[in-house]
Amino acid sequence: MTTQVLSSSPADIERAGALLRAGELVAIPTETVYGLAADACNSQAVAKIFVAKGRPQDNPLIVHIAQWEQLATLVEHIPPAAQKLADVYWPGPLTMILKKTDRIPPIVSGGLPTVAVRLPAHPVARAIIQAAGCPLAAPSANLSGSPSPTTAAHVLADLQGRIAAVVDGGHCGVGLESTVVDLTREPPRLLRPGGITAEWLRELLPDLVIDPAVTANLAEGQRPASPGMKYKHYAPKARVILVRGNRGQFADYVNRHAGQGVVALCFDGEEQDLQVPAVTYGPRDNPEQQAHRLFEALRQLDEIGAETVYAACPDVQGLGLAVYNRLLRAAAFQVVTLM
Ligand code: TXA
Ligand code: MG
Repeated sequence: MTTQVLSSSPADIERAGALLRAGELVAIPTETVYGLAADACNSQAVAKIFVAKGRPQDNPLIVHIAQWEQLATLVEHIPPAAQKLADVYWPGPLTMILKKTDRIPPIVSGGLPTVAVRLPAHPVARAIIQAAGCPLAAPSANLSGSPSPTTAAHVLADLQGRIAAVVDGGHCGVGLESTVVDLTREPPRLLRPGGITAEWLRELLPDLVIDPAVTANLAEGQRPASPGMKYKHYAPKARVILVRGNRGQFADYVNRHAGQGVVALCFDGEEQDLQVPAVTYGPRDNPEQQAHRLFEALRQLDEIGAETVYAACPDVQGLGLAVYNRLLRAAAFQVVTLM
């Protein structure tokens, strides 16, 4: 199959909608990362997502809608917490887990009685959902295990020839996947940090619990609340070690470990302290930039043939928690603490 590259013109959005209605896979831009979309109500179409990505079947998908009214047909009940969150953060980078109806086939929910739903803010994403005329199941449009795509070129690098089309909508704004909140539990639980921070959510849901798997590795045999959290993720081919320390401590540590294939992933301007090649991912004090650039930086590490990567650890406040969560998984939970 040749993957068509479509623009975000009205004619191309209509083409994307027609492909989706015909049960094909189309990668679409969203404000978080590119998603690999299929008609969420068509099990055969959704099955193709798992094949194209090499995704484990028990890892459920997020269903994307274009209007609040679509939610009622997909979930059994809209709890007051969902209404509250949607009033403030939809459309936007927030996914809610709710009890599903039979309209959601088991392949979408990984056999769970719940479904993850998101109303994206990206105008092209919403236009494509409208054109398709159905809710769209869409995981990130990368091969399973590799960094999520934030440009159409990243999508093609992973999935060219495996999907019908990609709609090029430029760079994704946020750069990390949506915040995932489970509202089927009491108290509500943050399963994945993202563009809507835990601090903001707590203003509306004061009893929100942060799932332990957000910042720690699960013990052998423990079952994660979100199946996706048990897999190694976002990983470049290199071995990544996350190094927690200030600018001077980081530079000392990296320079002591300089050698063949060693590369640093560091903050802007700090590469000048280092005696190894470096890829930067934003200023130390700017988590928005870090989120925006992290996945591209992880892909660059592969392009330059990095074998061992020492990554400067971000601050974990606000959006920094999401950046930290992704880096921790890229590092397979290997952290060196210097402070
Ligand atoms: O920003 C995003 O969320 C992007 C764009 C395309 O919308 N999508 C995305 O999908 O990141 P994916 O499949 O890469 O991540 C979905 C996460 C996984 O960790 C999955 O396990 C979790 O959401 N998830 C989905 N349905 C769930 C459910 N019913 N219960 C618990 N976790 C669920
Ligand atoms: Mg993903």
